[in-house]
Amino acid sequence: MARIGIFGAGWVGLVTGVCFAELGHDVVIRDVVAEKVDALSRGEVPFHEEDVPQLLEKNRDRLTFTLDPEDVVGCELLFVCVDTPPTYSGDADLSRVWSVVEELPALPGRPVLVMKSTVPVGTGAKVRAGLDARGLAHVGYVSNPEFLAEGRAVQDFMHPDRVVVGAFEPSDAEAVAVLYEPLDAPIVRCDVNSAEMIKLAANAFLMTRISFINEIANVCEATGADVVRVAEGVGLDHRLGPYFLKAGIGYGGSCFPKDSLALKQLASNSGYHFQLLSAVIEVNELQKRRVIGKLKRHLGSLSKRKIALLGLAFKPNTDDMREAPSIVLASRLLAEGADVRGWDPVADGRALPRGVEIAGSVLEAVDGADAAVIVTEWPELRDLAREEVRRAMANPLIVDGRNLLDPVEVRAAGFAYEGIGRPVSPTDVFPETAEPELDPERQR
Ligand code: UDX
Repeated sequence: MARIGIFGAGWVGLVTGVCFAELGHDVVIRDVVAEKVDALSRGEVPFHEEDVPQLLEKNRDRLTFTLDPEDVVGCELLFVCVDTPPTYSGDADLSRVWSVVEELPALPGRPVLVMKSTVPVGTGAKVRAGLDARGLAHVGYVSNPEFLAEGRAVQDFMHPDRVVVGAFEPSDAEAVAVLYEPLDAPIVRCDVNSAEMIKLAANAFLMTRISFINEIANVCEATGADVVRVAEGVGLDHRLGPYFLKAGIGYGGSCFPKDSLALKQLASNSGYHFQLLSAVIEVNELQKRRVIGKLKRHLGSLSKRKIALLGLAFKPNTDDMREAPSIVLASRLLAEGADVRGWDPVADGRALPRGVEIAGSVLEAVDGADAAVIVTEWPELRDLAREEVRRAMANPLIVDGRNLLDPVEVRAAGFAYEGIGRPVSPTDVFPETAEPELDPERQR
């Protein structure tokens, strides 16, 4: 069993750490934030991620948390799991990566520095040169990007589709590859630049699929087709597959938006205009805003209208609010003069702009509302179209930003319903549930 050091006790570092501990390795996780190190040492996980608290508890004997970089001395593998947020220019900010390189203590033997953080292509070569300049030429370097999705990260770690190992020296690649052998996944061995590009390209491709199906959804709306059926029919083609074809109000999260910008920037820094990726990003921005148009079609001016945003996290099963579409939606609605109330089962609504009221329950959020928008497809919202919700709302309109509900059932339950890329039914508004005449005073 190996001794593994991890720099960064964030989401990637912690998932990687508890999973390697579960595989039987001794793991030292180093972070610069004392409160985080203390909390983790007490067994408290500072974010919501399935299975992580259990694995932390189960493998406590094999996990150490520390502030001191000296504590990684003796580790054969040193994983870099720090964040690489976008800078003002859209390039990736590598300052935390460089801090790790600068803080590496004198290391005996031939440890290998393993980059898990998402970095621009060419970073490995620069870090290699940085290590050499610091007198650490004996330290190996490997690019081993993570492909973990939030909410199922432990699952993804333990059952990867593939493991990518890019190295300058075959023996360094081997030292990392053996760690993943118990997982029985294909291992892609390549040069460092290609490993870095695999991560960026995979994410860009996933985003392309989302923006593609979102544009198909928009055309479906204009032509009376149903994108859910279309995606099903398209996805059954074995050359295309069913994944990442869910139309909605766009992607968010800590990875996609920043990684797409970083790749776009990387290309343009090298003199290439990545047209397709630019369009993917723009489609995603416009997609979030289309909800406003849907609301206006039903309500006219949104001034003083009460809008409930249901689900705030960028996707279900996480409390992550980074780049969540709910933030853009809330800002746009406030700018339109609407009263916005948000609800989420776990995410902290304080990431939303000031002026949004946070409700403790779905019923509280929809009380007196002119419309309820499903922003995140939490399972708790599956039965949204129930009688008590309809009675609580001032106007029974559901805009389903994730196509979570069955339009026929929702309309039969007496709601007006708008999904994304779903036809508006001729029986959209039943006579007995027609939306009330809009108060002309409130229309501008
Ligand atoms: C993603 C990648 O999946 C992962 O490999 C990478 O390491 C980090 O980025 P994550 O950000 O956790 O992981 O979320 P993911 O589940 O991939 O979803 C990303 C976004 O796309 C979410 O906002 C989700 O709502 C949206 N999405 C996803 C769609 O709109 N439609 C889809 O069909 C799939």
